[in-house]
Amino acid sequence: MNLPTEVRYRPYADWTDEEIVAIKENMAKSPWHATYHIEPKTGLLNDPNGFSYFNGKYHLFYQNWPFGPAHGLKQWVHTESDDLVHFRETGITLKPDTEHDSHGAYSGSAYPIGDNLFLFYTGNVRDENWVRDPLQIGAFMDKKGNITKFKDVLIQQPSDVTEHFRDPQIFNYKDQLYAIIGAQSLDKKGFIKLYKAINNDVHNWIFAGNLDFTGTGSEYMIECPNLIFVDDRPVLIYSPQGLDKAELAYDNIYPNTYKIADSFDPEKTKLINPSTIHNLDYGFEAYATQGFNTPDGRAFIVSWIGLPDIDYPTDKYDYQGAMSLVKELTIKDGKLYQYPVSTMANLRQSKETFSDKQTTNNTYELELQVPAKTKAEIILFADKNQKGLRLCIDTKTGMFELDRSQAGEQYATAFGNIRTCPIAQQECTLNIFVDKSIIEIFINKGEKVLTSRIFPFSHQTGITLIRGNVSGKYFELHK
Ligand code: FRU
Repeated sequence: MNLPTEVRYRPYADWTDEEIVAIKENMAKSPWHATYHIEPKTGLLNDPNGFSYFNGKYHLFYQNWPFGPAHGLKQWVHTESDDLVHFRETGITLKPDTEHDSHGAYSGSAYPIGDNLFLFYTGNVRDENWVRDPLQIGAFMDKKGNITKFKDVLIQQPSDVTEHFRDPQIFNYKDQLYAIIGAQSLDKKGFIKLYKAINNDVHNWIFAGNLDFTGTGSEYMIECPNLIFVDDRPVLIYSPQGLDKAELAYDNIYPNTYKIADSFDPEKTKLINPSTIHNLDYGFEAYATQGFNTPDGRAFIVSWIGLPDIDYPTDKYDYQGAMSLVKELTIKDGKLYQYPVSTMANLRQSKETFSDKQTTNNTYELELQVPAKTKAEIILFADKNQKGLRLCIDTKTGMFELDRSQAGEQYATAFGNIRTCPIAQQECTLNIFVDKSIIEIFINKGEKVLTSRIFPFSHQTGITLIRGNVSGKYFELHK
């Protein structure tokens, strides 16, 4: 939602209790609240931040403007989890309250250092002429959740980037700490800068070089770059804005993409033998995905189910955005797979054979098989007239289609209401997680992924098989 700058940057302390209560009351009226996905307590949720393992727990913050469905003065809001399925909000926040983050505690990452969790983030600072000075800054969160911000700026804006320089991601490669940061060059091309912590001191960073990942610079900015290691292979996940569609076909306002390489050479600041660029997700919304490697080497990612610069049907209830399920990355036959963590199975309450049905409240998982050389069509969020969210699985032509034109309230229609995704021309499996207004579809156990919002009308709660020989299971899901 487009709100005036004065509203979006109004100091937190100026919002009255009555105003906050009114926002909460309005939010509570929404029929679309997710049950097992993270949503903002109030206002807007965007990027996942500080995703990490520290002090025996998983930590995940989200970018938030707490006063409405708009991108205003951002803070980080902390959640923690034991199983990567149940996340608790703790009340801890990283607020925009110093001269180095006066106009927003923008996105960043986290890494445990001794007894503290180091938070590495972008301080968005603007002067009286609204000129932006992006500062890369840090803080420690101790085991009790007390946050102490560093006094010094860790990385200043280099002379070869514009004001678009943000989202530091810290990672460990062979016991050396590095960080990559998204950047825009002076001739408006997106690129990535690599830094190194001298003696692994997070107070002390030097520039190592621009990361050579065979990027073309056809995008004007790269947001939220992440380098994650899967079976020792580097996977670069990033959010390029303005990417040339001749380079990669996509329909959303901005895609979320990845490249997979053979190895990482920090001396040459280079990914060795990187693949071409791929869509990380083929759905209507997944952006700013953040990942990290656990101490035992697993790779987890989580995505913002939302996009910048889009109005959502929930805006009228004063909130916007949700977090995806946590997905584990693996590589099979050289291909990247993303699949929800195995603990998600603990939410399964009942098991039924897949068939047409009225669900109680659109919160379930489907596990389906579609035979080779066939075409199947399923309507989820179906009403009596078979209007709803249409999934078409064609294993003959090798194409999956998701059509939300008949599913509830329409929005972002300028970007089309159908998404497609190529699939193998053979038997295929689908695991589909539905949560009131969210759908996450995993084809062939995560070979392809489609993440989307749908805002169904109240009577759209059915499942209807229109055609095809689809078999499988239905599980009610409860947190
Ligand atoms: C991506 C992004 C980041 C920025 C943050 C601000 O969605 O624009 O680049 O740090 O959101 O909320």
